[in-house]
Amino acid sequence: MKIGIIGLGYIGSVTAGVLAEAGNDVIGIEIDKKRLDAFNNGEPPIFEPGLKELIAKNKKRLTFTSDYSRLKEIQVAFLTVPTPTVNGRIDLSYIFASAKSVAEITKTATLIIKSTVVPGTAAKVNSETGLAVVSNPEFTKEGTAIDDTRRPDRIIIGAKDGNAANLVEKIWEFTEAPILKTTNENAELIKYASNSFLATKISFINELANLCETISGCDVETVAKGMGFDKRISPYFLKAGIGYGGSCFPKDTTAIAEFAKENKSPLTLVETAIKINSERIDKVISLLKEELGNNLREKKIGVLGLTFKQDTDDTRGSQAIQLIERLLAESAIVNVYDPIAKVNLENVKRFKTKEDCIENSVAIIIATEWPEFKNIKVNDKLVIDAKRILPPRSFNNLKSIGLSWRK
Ligand code: UDX
Repeated sequence: MKIGIIGLGYIGSVTAGVLAEAGNDVIGIEIDKKRLDAFNNGEPPIFEPGLKELIAKNKKRLTFTSDYSRLKEIQVAFLTVPTPTVNGRIDLSYIFASAKSVAEITKTATLIIKSTVVPGTAAKVNSETGLAVVSNPEFTKEGTAIDDTRRPDRIIIGAKDGNAANLVEKIWEFTEAPILKTTNENAELIKYASNSFLATKISFINELANLCETISGCDVETVAKGMGFDKRISPYFLKAGIGYGGSCFPKDTTAIAEFAKENKSPLTLVETAIKINSERIDKVISLLKEELGNNLREKKIGVLGLTFKQDTDDTRGSQAIQLIERLLAESAIVNVYDPIAKVNLENVKRFKTKEDCIENSVAIIIATEWPEFKNIKVNDKLVIDAKRILPPRSFNNLKSIGLSWRK
């Protein structure tokens, strides 16, 4: 097929690579010149394991351009543009703008919305553009995005128009994943319901972690492991820590909670999950203060990890960055180390090695689960393991989230 992909972020670029690999001719549209040049030079501007190689291998079937007129002959256009949450509400301006730009070039292509959008959006895009609109949310995780796209757990196809739905089914046939065809609105809500449920699972285990800390002999990791054997619960997304971050969970939980409130049918469980998540930073700070005292002024705190999780350079919605902001607000001196995060932080000292960062700090907080932090040497300095990557009580002065340290 001839496929357009509008917006070459994490999802757009991976979708482009995987669909080219599957034998389609793919035209990726990116309006940011610097990013576009990077793709054309074979150096994707984002770090996603395997992406650079995937793009290089399928170069012949991939075109990257900012010129919408190149989309004249496409059969479908995936919209993979950002849908940020602004003041708690979803901002759909990129969706409508890109949909209109496609509609100006072709009257026959089917639009496929991959970005996360509130229920009712596809119908509005259809009425504004006159093009058939399919809702085909993605469930890929950064760090494993290529594999998630090649072998997803399921493909959700929401459409009013049966032919358009069949077209999208054909695109994803090669994945052999189960396919659910439904209404646009169901498809749109399935995405939010899935992300909110996973976020709620994380907040559940984080609240339980707080309880574990009050009970001598309890460890949230073991409690989660014991729960996870139950197939109905599953062991996934039960890792307690500093709270969920990233470009999806924080924005999507807020957007759907606000949308539900506007529909006078609030999602109180999701609202509570958001609240619990927002208190994770306080938790880490209070663990620190229990040992260093209430006044953090001029105290040198080392933060290991800036990205919202391992295997990505993405710091959007990162809990580590929020933690740093809190420490700076308390006048601490903040030292940081991260192997690849692309971010410029003011008022912090970024070290090239974790050893130097540790050496120059009185206390260390592990804020991202980079595997290289598993073998840190700390010389009995205070360490807060906010990601639970170190063996419990493996050295003196180690405080782990969700583990009682009372004797
Ligand atoms: C998420 C969804 O998983 C994916 O389906 C959707 O398409 C986009 O949003 P992503 O943001 O890449 O993917 O990261 P994910 O691996 O889900 O982690 C999100 C956050 O939750 C991270 O900050 C991670 O550290 C945290 N997390 C995850 C936990 O704290 N505990 C867990 O058990 C799992």
